[in-house]
Amino acid sequence: MRKEFHVGRRRSFLKSGILAGAGILISNSLFSNFSIAGTTGSSMPAILGGVRSHKRPWPSWPRWDKNSDELRVLKVLRSGVWSRDKVVEEFETTWARTIGAKRSLAVVNGTNALIIALKQHDIGGGDEVIMPPYTFIATAQAVFSTGAIPVFADIDRDTYQIDPKKIEEKITPRTRAIVPVHICGLPADMVSIMEIARRHNLIVVEDACQAWMAEIANKKVGTFGHAGCFSFQNSKNIPIGEGGAIVSDDEAFIDRCYSYHNFGCIYGTVKGTSGFVGPGTKLRITEYQAAIGLAQLERLELQTDMRNHHATYLKHHLDGIPGIRTYSVYPNVTRLALHLFPFRYDPDQFHGLTRNEFIQALTAEGILCEEGYAPLNKMSFIENTFKSKNFRLMYDAETLNIENYNRNNQCLINDKVCEETVWLPQNVLLGSRDDMNDIINAITKIYDHSAQIKKKFS
Ligand SMILES: Cc1ncc(COP(=O)(O)O)c(C=O)c1O
Repeated sequence: MRKEFHVGRRRSFLKSGILAGAGILISNSLFSNFSIAGTTGSSMPAILGGVRSHKRPWPSWPRWDKNSDELRVLKVLRSGVWSRDKVVEEFETTWARTIGAKRSLAVVNGTNALIIALKQHDIGGGDEVIMPPYTFIATAQAVFSTGAIPVFADIDRDTYQIDPKKIEEKITPRTRAIVPVHICGLPADMVSIMEIARRHNLIVVEDACQAWMAEIANKKVGTFGHAGCFSFQNSKNIPIGEGGAIVSDDEAFIDRCYSYHNFGCIYGTVKGTSGFVGPGTKLRITEYQAAIGLAQLERLELQTDMRNHHATYLKHHLDGIPGIRTYSVYPNVTRLALHLFPFRYDPDQFHGLTRNEFIQALTAEGILCEEGYAPLNKMSFIENTFKSKNFRLMYDAETLNIENYNRNNQCLINDKVCEETVWLPQNVLLGSRDDMNDIINAITKIYDHSAQIKKKFS
């Protein structure tokens, strides 16, 4: 359950972004004179006993329409056809059309969308797959599930995305694929990545599990690579509970994916003499999941616009606060998905208030926030996977030497980003302009009183 904050409303007005827009460098005391938020001075932060900046409930998540959505689900329920059938097919064609891909296959979740997409490109034991360390663990586990080894290429500090220059450095004769992740719903540099993939004959599977509707030059992410994978898990911008999808223009590939997700059954161009012709498992979604998905898609366009609109406003104002630096995007990006709104926090500008203390202070103001990812490339699941029977059968001892692996997979920029980032979740961006001002006011208040807050924690 998300925390909800009740009580009254307060209108606020800020000048901090205007100053920032003018490129003015502001000292702590000077800044506070201009950042006073519609009250008589920058009021006391909630963590020091002051009044919370934000008292209303944040938009709840997931959302649904009581009339139309519940009717859709009820219709499926009453039909008695609950296993994969016409509603799933409708969801798949609608999703493919929405994203601008020829085909889509719905599967149980984003993790398995990635696993299937990699496997059906014949990626497995003996292969290396280059991916960023700044992502949810599912990306790496998907690579490991195929039998391949994830190789981490460092990220760009400002965009949070895999750095194409670092990809080139990691390519070896074993490299078979790149999995760029459009993390936070901000597009990775797909033009450069596809160019590298073409030069080195590599498969590209986009992890777009946080990036529904994000665009580069008006083309949706997920459609740049050989395949794009999406998640519809409950916290996602298209919440179905659990669910995922693979999209591609390669019809034979999607046929193979279909076959694999349905016990290896013959499908489309997948040829065979009897019903079951290849490896497979069962990863189908149900009709009622698809019904919820179709309902969610009706709101997606409007909600995406709203998130973009509020993110632009927040970004403009927050970048004016010393010590706060919001994400950057590549110049050709035309739309963001904004599953998360990330910003870097610099304790030096806040009298040494640590990120954790800053988050506590921001939470006390009624603002939803969290600290984000820890370095994936350093986690113990890697060593434990290397110790597993299958990996010991597939790889020699040198390849599975964890000290070597750790040395070769250091990502120093990512280490820093993991230490300094703070996220706002996507549902915050569906609030009102007043809600956005509350966030700006809250951070401004904490900035203005950072010395006092630090004292409280000392
Ligand atoms: C970047 C990323 N990749 C993959 C996944 C996996 O998706 P799912 O949870 O639907 O399996 C997620 C989900 O959180 C994700 O954020």
